[in-house]
Amino acid sequence: MLRLFGVFLILLQTKLSLSSPETYYFTDKFGLGRFFDGIGGLSAGASSVLLKGYPAQQRNEILDYMFKPNFGAAFQILKVEIGGDAQSTDGTESTHMRTPDEENYERGYEWWLMLEAKKRNPNIKLYGLPWGWPGWVGGDTGNVYDNPEQTAMYIVKWIIGAKTAHNLTIDYIGIWNERMYNITYIKTLRKSLDSNGLQSTRIIAADYFGWDTLSDEIINDPELSADIYGIGVHYPGTVSSLKALESGKQLWASEDYSTYDDLVGGGCWARLLNQNYVNGFLTSTISWALLASWYEGLPYYGDGLMTAVEPWSGHYDLSSPLWLTAHTTQFTSVGWRYLSHGWGVGHLAGGGSYVALVSPDGKDFTIVIETMSHNHSVCIRPALKPYTVVPQDVKFVFNGSFSGIRKLYPWFSQLNFTGESTLFQQQMPVPVIDGQIRFKLGVDQVLTLTTVTSGNRGQYTPPPPSKPFPLPYSVNFEDTSVYQAPGVFAQQIGSFEVADVGGTHGHVLRQMTRQKPVAWCPADSIGMGFTILGSPQWKDIYVQADIQAPNNSNVSSIFIAARVSQEGCQSNTAKGVFLSINPQEKEYILSSSITVLGILTQGKLENLNKDWNTVSLLAMGNSAVGSLNGELIFNYTTLPTSVKSGFVAMGTGSLDYGDFDNVKIASARDGLHYMKNRKQNLR
Ligand SMILES: *[C@@H]1O[C@H](CO)[C@@H](O)[C@H](O)[C@H]1NC(C)=O
Ligand SMILES: *[C@@H]1O[C@H](CO)[C@@H](O)[C@H](O)[C@H]1NC(C)=O
Ligand SMILES: *[C@@H]1O[C@H](CO)[C@@H](O)[C@H](O)[C@H]1NC(C)=O
Ligand SMILES: *[C@@H]1O[C@H](CO)[C@@H](O)[C@H](O)[C@H]1NC(C)=O
Ligand SMILES: *[C@@H]1O[C@H](CO)[C@@H](O)[C@H](O)[C@H]1NC(C)=O
Ligand SMILES: *[C@@H]1O[C@H](CO)[C@@H](O)[C@H](O)[C@H]1NC(C)=O
Ligand SMILES: *[C@@H]1O[C@H](CO)[C@@H](O)[C@H](O)[C@H]1NC(C)=O
Repeated sequence: MLRLFGVFLILLQTKLSLSSPETYYFTDKFGLGRFFDGIGGLSAGASSVLLKGYPAQQRNEILDYMFKPNFGAAFQILKVEIGGDAQSTDGTESTHMRTPDEENYERGYEWWLMLEAKKRNPNIKLYGLPWGWPGWVGGDTGNVYDNPEQTAMYIVKWIIGAKTAHNLTIDYIGIWNERMYNITYIKTLRKSLDSNGLQSTRIIAADYFGWDTLSDEIINDPELSADIYGIGVHYPGTVSSLKALESGKQLWASEDYSTYDDLVGGGCWARLLNQNYVNGFLTSTISWALLASWYEGLPYYGDGLMTAVEPWSGHYDLSSPLWLTAHTTQFTSVGWRYLSHGWGVGHLAGGGSYVALVSPDGKDFTIVIETMSHNHSVCIRPALKPYTVVPQDVKFVFNGSFSGIRKLYPWFSQLNFTGESTLFQQQMPVPVIDGQIRFKLGVDQVLTLTTVTSGNRGQYTPPPPSKPFPLPYSVNFEDTSVYQAPGVFAQQIGSFEVADVGGTHGHVLRQMTRQKPVAWCPADSIGMGFTILGSPQWKDIYVQADIQAPNNSNVSSIFIAARVSQEGCQSNTAKGVFLSINPQEKEYILSSSITVLGILTQGKLENLNKDWNTVSLLAMGNSAVGSLNGELIFNYTTLPTSVKSGFVAMGTGSLDYGDFDNVKIASARDGLHYMKNRKQNLR
């Protein structure tokens, strides 16, 4: 909507009575700054797990808000996790190679997400990075750098698989997320890429913290320097270093933001997008996460550019960071150049910053200004030193090639912490008279002034209202493709995929990981399989599933659970009410933690079938009731008060195959009714 008059309208031109403005020059007379590599979103740490299960309509809307040019965030880079069947923050993502001889490019959701992004924007750049690795990559020592050829082969296969299975070209490849890099490995990776015809896949090193160590190595090692396109650092706090600049490499904030997506999150993101270049000469900033699409109750809930956590209702929330991204992305492209510092890039005298970029043909020109105040732009990390921002009058003077600009198209945002915010609003074009414009800037604003006329604030009718996870819920997996999992399942340890066992069971959900991964965080230390669904608030709840240990599995137990809390990297200490069935010993254990440390009761199961068994667990008040194939097996009435509420979960006591089918979840009242009637079928 074009706003003609109003408080946000830029004050036009010089003759208005402004107090003496501060003047800023925009010129290319003294050269230009760095090439712009693009603003990106990161799908990793299972951050997109709930997105795929959305109804098609809302899923497409969300994808449009993220990727469609001239619509919403219009991301220029999509970075994804190369899954390793290892916990990577809010879940595990599946690997493409469970053994050295196995390859599969159908698992998980990152292939799908990359395809959806490319469908909307064929120019979007793709970037892959591993968190954990399947165990075999680490070999006997568990060190992925001990056999650099093998590790590089694992990564190269992922890139080749992207091309052969999905026609996706991977533009950038990383080393190891937030773990120490290894120079021999980086060089080996470059050689493997080249010898496989992947010369155009560039290495970003090393998705680690701090600039100087790697910069030093690059400065002192021309071969290493030639192998690396850019240095990617996480959460650099808008700065780089003299050594980083001396390295001659492009410098990226290859993971940044990770802040709750409220208005302060928006302020954080807007400040980073400008000041990462102003202060650090960083030419790409990538947000973890692209969008927040993992369950509430898990770590860093809501740290995305929008929130989509209800596949059952289709509800989602657009938030300020999404529209603040558009201020840059809709008016620039990868390959544009920043102007040079002092001549189009810098700090504003009254606080805040401005950057200007120019298209390769010199025809298009974009300025982005932000005036985020300190308290309204604090990011999760690192600490932000105090500073002040005040309302200010500014004069922009266009010189050199930009002296011919006659008109600029403004887009405006005002974060408002006491009333309604204005987000990405188009305003009347501003004439540039005598090579100058003059205007006022308030606090907590973002203003784009551009020659690009294609900007657009996309809009769909609001999504359906928010709803709790619907009960009763039942799933038999027949509608889910093999290698996939239904959208509400959020795997935390191991990997759960639909397998086709034929017969009456057909599609079942199977825990697939059989070797401890080279871990990224503590969750994987326990060597179990663990997946969750539902709500972190569930207290009184009934869960039922058909379970079997397939006959090529030596799995130690298969469990169902209720009231499960502590997921993500703390999954190894998950609390809840866990009912485990040991098919070999024919016994059950009820425990209050994922490991058998918290045993509450246990016993024998004489009537356990060799293959499938129906197990149910009712958590109600202080009691946990278990049944097997319709027969009550225990009624434990003194649950510890430490176990309060949480998700429903399923899993395996060891890393081996375990099958689940006909999963049912119901209210405790309904569950009690089923149990009393010994009628296990909810349908
Ligand atoms: C890289 O890893 C190998 C194998 O673990 C090790 O021997 C070597 O010292 C490491 N190299 C560097 C430069 O860190
Ligand atoms: C693969 O993608 C390219 C664009 O990157 C496109 O030109 C080509 O037609 C695609 N090939 C197939 C077989 O879809
Ligand atoms: C910023 O927040 C700090 C800590 O909450 C507070 O003391 C200070 O007054 C705030 N500053 C402004 C300008 O609101
Ligand atoms: C910039 O351009 C203006 C208008 O063309 C001109 O008056 C001024 O001298 C120029 N300033 C510089 C620093 O080049
Ligand atoms: C924020 O909204 C309130 C209420 O509508 C309004 O009075 C105030 O002027 C707005 N503040 C800014 C900075 O726009
Ligand atoms: C056990 O293995 C046999 C032979 O491979 C197969 O026919 C049968 O379906 C398997 N049973 C189960 C329960 O997986
Ligand atoms: C479990 O025991 C409690 C207390 O004795 C009883 O109230 C409840 O009905 C029992 N539950 C079932 C399912 O039998």
